[in-house]
Amino acid sequence: MKKIAILASGFGSNAENLHNFFAAGSRVKVELVIYDRKDAPVAERMRALGVDTLYLPAETWTERPDEIVDLLRGRGIDLVVLAGFLRMVPRAITEAFAGRIINIHPSLLPAYGGRGMYGRRIHEAVIAAGETETGVTVHYVTDDLDSGQILLQERLEVKSGESAEELEKRVHELEYSMLPRAVMTALAAMTPPPAPDVPPGQQWAERLGVSYDPSKLPPEYPGSTAQPDPAPQPAGVPPYGAPPQPGSPYGPQMQWAAGSPRPTNVPEGEKMPPSYLAWAIVMTVLCCLPAGVVAIIFASQVSSKFYSGDLEGARRSSRNAEIWIIVSFVLGVMFNTLYVPLSVLF
Ligand code: GRF
Repeated sequence: MKKIAILASGFGSNAENLHNFFAAGSRVKVELVIYDRKDAPVAERMRALGVDTLYLPAETWTERPDEIVDLLRGRGIDLVVLAGFLRMVPRAITEAFAGRIINIHPSLLPAYGGRGMYGRRIHEAVIAAGETETGVTVHYVTDDLDSGQILLQERLEVKSGESAEELEKRVHELEYSMLPRAVMTALAAMTPPPAPDVPPGQQWAERLGVSYDPSKLPPEYPGSTAQPDPAPQPAGVPPYGAPPQPGSPYGPQMQWAAGSPRPTNVPEGEKMPPSYLAWAIVMTVLCCLPAGVVAIIFASQVSSKFYSGDLEGARRSSRNAEIWIIVSFVLGVMFNTLYVPLSVLF
């Protein structure tokens, strides 16, 4: 969880928008709002949202800025966001939080920046100058007013005849969309560069603040510690043509190389039961086709069961083949002796 402190002096609509944007998630939190004007509406607005607020009068900023640094560090602040803060940030803070303070300014900096350029004055000046476009800039804060490196800048057309108030409203809308994005960019940029041998998946996980478990990555990914999947065939399967292994799920037929002596699980001296395959075919052709087909199926099972060592199964198939051959014969005789003469008569 990254923590933000907002410094504000006025209304606080950006502070509120930022809080609402990040409150929906759990990665960034508006930890604290510090304001420097006792009656600044931002204080009440943020307290109503349950955000901690702290009033620091002018002398704290000018005389004891180190205390503010300690305070920010003590609260674990990662990023300081100026949103309508009308005071120069003391050097003690810009140094302690170098690269970790950003400001939002309602113009296309460097235009309409610097001393005296704040609030509606900027929009009045833009309109008075006949500008056709204005915009919003989010920049890093340094000791030079409105001059730090630009983080994000977006443009907005100035409509003809638009009042400063109307323009300010539209600029504010643009600010609400930009500031959360700028905060995320600044937080991502602050993440220290990863060591060169850190795999890309881990780099992204660290940037996004999600957990990284290299054992859950597919084995082919860089940095993965997952074990490659075991070979698709069960271990212990002998090479094609090798004699069957004890306990192997593969029958000898699958390992029988053409031309090699047929391996078998059949005990020495055991004879294969008759398959009756020839009879089954004859009965199918001459007598009864459906019963004959059943006989053929059983007949064809005999040798495969026998050579895989299933002697009992081979005997059963042989018996069944025999039975269905008889059935086929009987049905064939009945058909030819009863049905054919009857059909001729009637
Ligand atoms: C915003 O326009 C911001 O760009 C500028 O001050 C104004 C603050 O508005 N720095 P709010 O207090 O956030 O409503």
